[in-house]
Amino acid sequence: MSGSGSDLKVAVVTGAARGIGLACVRRLLKSGFAVAMADLGSPTLDQSVSLLRTEGYEVMPLAGDVGDFGLVQQQAASVLERYGRIDVMVNNAGISQAKGLLDITEGEWDRILTVNLKGVFNWCKAVAPAMLGQGGGRIINMSSISAVTGGSAEAVSKFSYCAAKAGVLGLTRGLAKELAPTIMVNAICPGAIRTDLTEQLMLARYEQIRQTIPLKRIGTPDDIAVVVEFLATMDPCFITGEVLDVDGGQWVN
Ligand SMILES: NC(=O)c1ccc[n+]([C@@H]2O[C@H](COP(=O)([O-])OP(=O)(O)OC[C@H]3O[C@@H](n4cnc5c(N)ncnc54)[C@H](O)[C@@H]3O)[C@@H](O)[C@H]2O)c1
Repeated sequence: MSGSGSDLKVAVVTGAARGIGLACVRRLLKSGFAVAMADLGSPTLDQSVSLLRTEGYEVMPLAGDVGDFGLVQQQAASVLERYGRIDVMVNNAGISQAKGLLDITEGEWDRILTVNLKGVFNWCKAVAPAMLGQGGGRIINMSSISAVTGGSAEAVSKFSYCAAKAGVLGLTRGLAKELAPTIMVNAICPGAIRTDLTEQLMLARYEQIRQTIPLKRIGTPDDIAVVVEFLATMDPCFITGEVLDVDGGQWVN
């Protein structure tokens, strides 16, 4: 399946090579989307693309840094050239930062904001004109419970990550209003999800973390992907500017 068949639905997922992003790609593929997979160029991205293609799915790799504005403009243009439309944008790429204020450097602060917040801006800026032009679209941004809680002593990431992820919530709410009624913009705040990003923490404190979660289990990438699929496909859709906590009840208050 390639080209721009009129009923083809197209999604872009960033941070798509592994973890939550890859689970989102799988869910969207099963829902009938062609998916452009944006991630840093790496063997992991190549392997994920190859595996999905051997399973018969239509995927398009986009190798590069979401923080590079010009590159993202080019990548969005290449998706539009190939498929003619972009229906769903999942801004999932993210990195952690374990350093506190006394240890972090200016460069490390800039990097976490560049990947986790500017990367979301870059892709929103790149896809919104096409979505407005085609008369519809959905943007789903990956924030974190840390945006609201400020993290915790044992969290993988500290304040700079929390700041970037809180920025994603403000961006989401602002763009939901600005791009309405054509584009729905929502965010997800995952809680503790077992991926490569959190593997060390999970190995060290799995049982302790599990006990703090009312649903009594650590989340999986598919726990997040199923919510992405819901926001991407629900019809009719009367949700925009919303933030969904997907954390097994850990931060219910
Ligand atoms: N795992 C959790 O518990 C958890 C909790 C809250 C929020 N999140 C968020 O969910 C998202 C996915 O997390 P994950 O656990 O799957 O992480 P992960 O590290 O397993 O996957 C992240 C992916 O993003 C890619 N990436 C990193 N920097 C990039 C860049 N500059 N440009 C393009 N791609 C880049 C990585 O190569 C990787 O494939 C992140 O935004 C993360 O902050 C995760």
